[in-house]
Amino acid sequence: MSRSLEIYREACEVFPGCVNSPVRAAVKPYPFVVERSEGPYIHTVDGEVLIDYVLGYGPLILGHRHPHIRKAIENQLERGWLYAAPTEVEVRLARKILGHVMPNGLVRFVNSGTEATHLAVRLARGYTKRRCIVKFDGCYHGAHDYVLISAGSAAQHYGVPYSEGIPEEVIKTVLIAEYNNTDVVEKLFREMGSEIAAVILEPVIGNFGVIPAKMEFLKTVRELCSRYGALLVFDETITGFRLGLGGAQQLYGVSADVVVLGKIIGGGLPIGAVVARRDIGINISPSGRVFNAGTFNAHPLSMAAGLATIEVLESEPVYTVCRRAAEEVSKAFLEASRGGVQINRVESMLQVFFIDRPVDSVAVARMSNTRLYEEMHVELRRRGVFVTPSQFEAIFTSYAHTREVVERTTEAIHDVFRRIRGWS
Ligand SMILES: Cc1ncc(COP(=O)(O)O)c(C=O)c1O
Repeated sequence: MSRSLEIYREACEVFPGCVNSPVRAAVKPYPFVVERSEGPYIHTVDGEVLIDYVLGYGPLILGHRHPHIRKAIENQLERGWLYAAPTEVEVRLARKILGHVMPNGLVRFVNSGTEATHLAVRLARGYTKRRCIVKFDGCYHGAHDYVLISAGSAAQHYGVPYSEGIPEEVIKTVLIAEYNNTDVVEKLFREMGSEIAAVILEPVIGNFGVIPAKMEFLKTVRELCSRYGALLVFDETITGFRLGLGGAQQLYGVSADVVVLGKIIGGGLPIGAVVARRDIGINISPSGRVFNAGTFNAHPLSMAAGLATIEVLESEPVYTVCRRAAEEVSKAFLEASRGGVQINRVESMLQVFFIDRPVDSVAVARMSNTRLYEEMHVELRRRGVFVTPSQFEAIFTSYAHTREVVERTTEAIHDVFRRIRGWS
């Protein structure tokens, strides 16, 4: 028996579904157990070395154990790792983030994307004194009651887009619309505009595979929010600092009133952030009456790792390397399948769909052949390449995905598609 299986069996005795976050259980036939990581690689306890295209589900844009981040964490460790009191590093990270995302805005650091969207929705309700939010079918905004309604990601993978345990009263305040469909949003605003506090969305969906927003869609939603006095909340937990320093706002040229960040801004340590226009953000406690607090908010290690990450993003050709790797990998999927798959890619996030039409909506993504996707994941893993086991997540590249690493990946992709009958 492999060491992974031994440990996994023990895990099954102590964790619901054997894991601590659902998607981890999707690795078949059972999840490998990690021993360590370095650059683009994950080393398992069984001695496997896998090229990692999951990258912690997005945060590790510089790859594993980047020396600059490691040093920053070590320096902070030397001086202690929890004060629950102000630090200089939190101010420096906030200034960096605001400079790229919302000059003159305000930031509240929390510990996860989930906490950040939770606060963002409460803030929107508190600021507008309205109760409803508009959320899109298939978008994932974390694991709390306000947004676990028609959700993507693992909620979709495991067939629970509507989680049990959420009060009917909460569900009634969440209006579900179809992504990339402006007519539906317009209708919602026409009928309920005075009750809508905010529209929350992923400006590129990264939790239903990858589905980019149409420019027209984002512009219309922006315009409707302004017209009806609702806040536009961009959940950039994945896209923030991945699509470029200015994230999706910069890429699409559309400004949000509130931007939620997470993942990359913590350099691989737990983090979330709500970035809000000053007149909105000022309503968060203690300066305002929208309450938020946290023992671990602005954790010094996360602050140090996040600041070091952004320093590298600003000074080295990270985005060029990541984009080139993502382009090469996308090309390999298309060539190896002889055009038999659809690839959606935005900068360094992509996903493969086994379907014969463009995937421009959640409805089309739902129709793709997830069994083939999962088989592909297993076959790639056998050849030393780890892509997410779930169709409803994204494949990411990092600064550590050098030409040589990508070349080995593309060989594996070609081999997988050559060997499996009916794929080409
Ligand atoms: C767009 C988006 N929002 C929120 C979250 C929740 O973040 P976290 O897992 O840090 O709670 C995620 C996580 O994948 C995400 O992709």
